[in-house]
Amino acid sequence: MNKRRLFACLAVVACSLPAAAEDGYDLWLRYPAIDAAGYPSAGSVRQLVGESASPTLAAASSELERGLSGLMGKPIPVVREANEAGAVIYGTPRSSTLIAGLPLALERVGPEGFVIRSVNIHQKSAIVIAANSDVGVLYGAFHFLRLIQTRQKLDGLDIASQPRTRIRVLNHWDNLDGHVERGYAGQSIWDWHKLPGYLDPRYTDYARACASIGINGAVLTNVNANAVSLTPPYLEKAAALAGALRPYGMRVYLTARFSAPMELGGLKTADPLAPAVRAWWKDKIDEIYRYIPDFGGFLVKANSEGQPGPQDYKRNHADGANMLAGPLASHGGVVIWRAFVYSNEAPDDRAKQAYNEFVPLDGEFAANVLVQVKNGPIDFQPREPFHPLFGAMPKTPLMMEFQITKEYLGFATHLAYLGTLFEEALDADTMVKGKGSTVAKVVDGELHGYVQTGMAGVSNIGADRNWTGSQFNQANWFAFGRLAWDPYLSAEAIAQEWVRMTFSNDPAFVTPVVAMMMGSREAVVEYMTPLGLHHLMGTGHHYGPAPWVNDQKRADWNPTYYHHADALGIGFERGPKGSDATSQYAPAVAARFADLKKTPEQFLLWFHHVPWGYKMPSGRILWDELVYRYTHGVEVVSQMRRTWAGLERYVDAGRFAQVAAFLAIQEQEAQWWRDACVAYFQTFSKRPLPPGFAPPQHPLEYYQALKFPYAPGH
Ligand code: GCU
Repeated sequence: MNKRRLFACLAVVACSLPAAAEDGYDLWLRYPAIDAAGYPSAGSVRQLVGESASPTLAAASSELERGLSGLMGKPIPVVREANEAGAVIYGTPRSSTLIAGLPLALERVGPEGFVIRSVNIHQKSAIVIAANSDVGVLYGAFHFLRLIQTRQKLDGLDIASQPRTRIRVLNHWDNLDGHVERGYAGQSIWDWHKLPGYLDPRYTDYARACASIGINGAVLTNVNANAVSLTPPYLEKAAALAGALRPYGMRVYLTARFSAPMELGGLKTADPLAPAVRAWWKDKIDEIYRYIPDFGGFLVKANSEGQPGPQDYKRNHADGANMLAGPLASHGGVVIWRAFVYSNEAPDDRAKQAYNEFVPLDGEFAANVLVQVKNGPIDFQPREPFHPLFGAMPKTPLMMEFQITKEYLGFATHLAYLGTLFEEALDADTMVKGKGSTVAKVVDGELHGYVQTGMAGVSNIGADRNWTGSQFNQANWFAFGRLAWDPYLSAEAIAQEWVRMTFSNDPAFVTPVVAMMMGSREAVVEYMTPLGLHHLMGTGHHYGPAPWVNDQKRADWNPTYYHHADALGIGFERGPKGSDATSQYAPAVAARFADLKKTPEQFLLWFHHVPWGYKMPSGRILWDELVYRYTHGVEVVSQMRRTWAGLERYVDAGRFAQVAAFLAIQEQEAQWWRDACVAYFQTFSKRPLPPGFAPPQHPLEYYQALKFPYAPGH
């Protein structure tokens, strides 16, 4: 059968399949045929012109062929030379003499960027997707497909784009036994047991999805590291994965367990200044590069939550990082050293510890070390102020660490679009060099002239068919990648793109769904931790509310450590009269956060212990405001449910039903959060609920007695 006939048959099969055949596996890389009558630009795409001389160009070519043929509803042939109007020409100056001869000013887009431009070749209109490197062409190909997927006009194109950060990585908290720490989408997609012999085709689909949004690396293993991942059998497995990801421009990274020289090498110490330890790491790193010549480097969690590290030997973080950085540098690798450190022994406010440990080391780190900082100073809460380290280490490249997996925002079932959370963190103004010194400018290197730059997202990916545990969680993977490429994109524009690519371009669907997404994270904040409250979740598994817990061996694992509710009021006093965490920010920001009256309402109880009767801007007293917020959060979820229920006709049955069921779960759990927290805090406020607000459905003891020994992700 010729290709055209085969395609026609496939198209018939595809059309006759019930819409329910969609299960989310295709993510946003869906290429269903468009209605050409409603999209005049369709005529601009008739043939593809380019080479597949490298695996990466071949990937670009096959994605364009697959995507354009799908979208146009007919095969788009790949030809050697453009011979009619509507050619899409892709390549680099090296792969294409045509591109080499066009005035595209490729120097402006750097090693990974691309240009997409409408041109005339021999009086025939064409579109060029060009880059300096093969991977730039791949990124350009995905961008071009996205233009069509979101129904943008294709005439007069003149797009030049390049990433604003260099290292754009997913951090997989995946264990070698397949369990994913804080994973809510099934087991790890890395099938370590069957590697290297079996390469699941899913690895390629994973890499395609990552490349489509510009992600260029994956840390394969959990930050709570296992030294076994550095042994030869596992390096061979990692090398096989690297081979699957490489055509898509992705490098692999591994986590390094600091005590590996003792566990694997039989040494008596892991002291970073001990010559034997340094020699062990040098040999290990050289060995890794024999398996994986383009190995990205190590991600290290040290001296945090019981992990070994340089402080075990009275050395500091720079001593530890630099020991690894030396041998990695000679191969082009980096060390990504995490700033998520806090110690039970330190009597100080947990929110202050990372700053206290790292700021004195500014300037001490080797040139190929980046320090990776969580967006806020505690731990990926539904809302946190920006981390005070941003702006405080001008001589040390700081990487952003976002959590894509929703450990604290309702696991897989709650619909919470994190684009708005990421955007809020990136837009936060550190003020360290005056107004406009945003976190985004720290992270992309503009503010301090960092050479190394990066953004990491803790992955929400697992072996579930839909990859991320829910349809809408895919949007968070997507938003992370788009923002790592360009931290100045708007969360709303990203949501628009994602909805159009993932579901439908019909405005009757896009408008309400984008609105629902844009309000969704704020709803979670309200029904879990309004007004700056934080860390109220269940112990260990972090599922559901447990603000009453006060029996953990570490003080800072107790919710009571964070909310300080008592007869007078509620909140953590972090102003000068309290822990003085506010002084870690630049003076202008510190002055605002230190002053109860000037603290933004959303951070009120993060920074202050506030009397129950305190008059809020709304005119309500704090207690009433708290009840109002908790209740409002639940109401927003109920509204989201109603919105979705009205959209059935726009969505295939399978995805529609799953989202609807999850929203029902979310509504119940939002109510649970609200009721449990209101019941508990009322024991301190000793005030009635404001008129018209329903009492909790159960007595406090009911909520306190709930147990979840098998909640996922722990
Ligand atoms: C959180 C999370 C842990 C994780 C840690 C980290 O505390 O609950 O599972 O290991 O963050 O980021 O290192």
